[in-house]
Amino acid sequence: MKALTTTLLLCLLYTANEAAKILYVMPFTAASHYISQKDLAMELAKRGHEVYAITSHKEVDPPTTYHQIMVERKSVWDAFFTEEEKPNIFSMLDLSFAQFQNLMYVIGKFNNDLVFNSTEVQTFLKEDHKFDLVINELFFQESLYMFAHKYQAPLVLVTTFGNSVKGNFYGRNPLQLATVYHEYGVSPDPLSFIGRLSNFYYALYDLFVTKFFYMPELEALAQHHFKDLSQPLPSLEQLAANASLVLMNSHFSIDTPTAYLPNYIEVGCLNHPKEPKPLPKDLQKVLDSAKNGVVYLSFGSNVQSKDLSKDRLEGFLKVFGELKETVLMKWEDDSVPNIPKNVVLRKWFPQKDVLAHPNIKLFIGHGGLLGLQETIVAGVPILGVPVFGDQYLNILATVQNGHGELLEYKNINEENLRTVINKMLTNKRYKEKALEVSIRFKDRPMNGIDTAVWWIEYVIRHKGADFIKTPALKLGFIQYHMLDVYLFLVVLLLVPFIVLSKILSLFKSKKTQLVEKKKQKKN
Ligand SMILES: *[C@@H]1O[C@H](CO)[C@@H](O)[C@H](O)[C@H]1NC(C)=O
Ligand SMILES: *[C@@H]1O[C@H](CO)[C@@H](O)[C@H](O)[C@H]1NC(C)=O
Repeated sequence: MKALTTTLLLCLLYTANEAAKILYVMPFTAASHYISQKDLAMELAKRGHEVYAITSHKEVDPPTTYHQIMVERKSVWDAFFTEEEKPNIFSMLDLSFAQFQNLMYVIGKFNNDLVFNSTEVQTFLKEDHKFDLVINELFFQESLYMFAHKYQAPLVLVTTFGNSVKGNFYGRNPLQLATVYHEYGVSPDPLSFIGRLSNFYYALYDLFVTKFFYMPELEALAQHHFKDLSQPLPSLEQLAANASLVLMNSHFSIDTPTAYLPNYIEVGCLNHPKEPKPLPKDLQKVLDSAKNGVVYLSFGSNVQSKDLSKDRLEGFLKVFGELKETVLMKWEDDSVPNIPKNVVLRKWFPQKDVLAHPNIKLFIGHGGLLGLQETIVAGVPILGVPVFGDQYLNILATVQNGHGELLEYKNINEENLRTVINKMLTNKRYKEKALEVSIRFKDRPMNGIDTAVWWIEYVIRHKGADFIKTPALKLGFIQYHMLDVYLFLVVLLLVPFIVLSKILSLFKSKKTQLVEKKKQKKN
């Protein structure tokens, strides 16, 4: 009987949510981008969908419904440099907005190239597949949107960094430049006149260069690699605009509240909210026995703490040595600096599990979104040293929300470190705010990953859910911005004036004619 009920239940579940075949395109090589998305891909596979992932990071023991198509994993720096030439990551700080964007366009093209160069991808493209859905990361991978067209499947875009100006622009979500900052913008006061002026420039620069220089290159790439499909192919911009969903790794409880179309969904924290795993024994002992608490420093996977300049490193170590707290420091190099005895070095820490330990009092990092969200979930205050990309704005939000401080790399010295670290360790406000923000970040009907899965299955159930897409997509630039209507109204307002002034000038000339005639008669 029980078996029968279970079978019936399973049947019901199965028909309510039929297993679909999903292609998840997430080949970007940076680890944080992969880690931000793999739980979602894996979760879809665990729920019975057949997931094909184009990726550069191999899972060793995935569910049987998870198939991997491997792309060579190169560092983003390989787009420019050989191994010996690689610059110190902190030199990114000297780049202007435009220079950083220009780097990203090159890195983007390079990554798209890598995907098409992969022999596994080439074989996969020749196989016979039918997909119900294609998911792409929305991050400099536009030529890969053509997969959705090849398989005639609805497209879902996922950002690993929150809201995106380009993502808004293509899908016709209002840009809201007064309040919604460009993801790579830097301004200490985004709402000020200078802040908004800068934002206008950031958005304009990005959209202009993307449209006229970057996209044409990716367009050519897509045209070349999908030339066997029936012509003409849709443009990549059309494909981006036609996305059924844009899932954003942000949430209004910690990010700028923004107006979104119904298919723009905030799924902030796509990392699976699992219970923390037990720590390695030695680390557990260090953390448990740190009676005065622990400060944890890690600049993530891209930025290595050994890249810190000598004087800055010495500043950190000097100030750490004065603390009563234990300090955990991610240190990747084999040569170990002279460290105070309360400092523990490791090449790698299980970050999420370390942050969850009750003795952690402060996290020092660069403000990459992944680590930042982990810190927020754990309710730990953060001292951020932003290096590139969205990190500045991420840290600025923690300052505004009261659980973080921002220290610019150029201002790192012993004295500033001592002041800010002591302030954050002694003033209770940071911890209180961190807990408050943590609670509100988690307080929602469904966590990020369940929300994302629900919407993805919704789009599958409704075969692309075309009804969710804004009618603005059918309008041209002039119509969407109402320029034709404004022009019409201006003309309409001008007509009476023109008519009136014509009549007046007519009267005037009649009058002068009469006067002239009178004059002539007199003569
Ligand atoms: C991909 O292959 C093309 C043609 O062989 C080559 O020119 C290009 O450098 C390769 N790109 C990458 C990123 O490996
Ligand atoms: C847009 O997507 C829908 C599915 O969501 C698809 O039926 C349609 O063909 C797509 N249009 C273009 C121009 O790609």
